[in-house]
Amino acid sequence: MADEKAKGRIKIVKNGPYIVSGAVPLMKMVIGTDEEGNSYNWHSEEIVPCGETYTLCRCGQSKNKPFCDGTHGEVGFDGTEIASRKSYLEEAVETEGFDLNLTDVWSLCDHSRFCMRAGGIRKLIAESENPEARELAIQQGKNCPSGRLVVWDKKTGKPLEPEFEQSIAMVHDPVKDCEGPMWVRGGIPIESADGTLYEIRNRVTLCQCGKSENKPFCDGRHWMTPEEKRDWKAKWE
Ligand code: FES
Repeated sequence: MADEKAKGRIKIVKNGPYIVSGAVPLMKMVIGTDEEGNSYNWHSEEIVPCGETYTLCRCGQSKNKPFCDGTHGEVGFDGTEIASRKSYLEEAVETEGFDLNLTDVWSLCDHSRFCMRAGGIRKLIAESENPEARELAIQQGKNCPSGRLVVWDKKTGKPLEPEFEQSIAMVHDPVKDCEGPMWVRGGIPIESADGTLYEIRNRVTLCQCGKSENKPFCDGRHWMTPEEKRDWKAKWE
């Protein structure tokens, strides 16, 4: 659940960085894998020293990452925000299972791949009368950093969300050997360069490589080619 007393805020600068205020803790987190290389859990938290207010790179070209060093101006970074301003539930597609439901907004996928194990989250949702499948589906849904996938308990009608204090984690993806998105947790308000607020959500992933075609959110292009992106989308349809 979001900490209602926390005061974190992220302001997006036009064609520039993210300005984070409110003493939001900053850390590095690594995607852990099982024996088959599937994303499985999160580990190796390392706190990154930062002040009350700090500025994070959005163009992907700072030499002082994760902090901004002004390079966006030299390289002519185009950080135009094109993500939908609709709410998550307005965009979501629902899959109904036995004991659980799943909502999915494909455009938010950061391709951390936590939903692939044991036949995938859709299969697990369909089989959620089985306690083991139910448990795995909930685990996969909670581990999805972008909140693209949300698992719902059919009995209570409530989402099964992980509990987060306000924090930002810079994601490292060892299988793809690259840095991933900024994982923004605990309901931190994000203000667009045009001054409007995005829907406040418990977890979202912001692009920090500059390549996303769904800015300000990550769309997996930090490691995917356009062809890989198209093929993955086809798998889900
Ligand atoms: S960090 Fe994922 S697309 Fe930029």
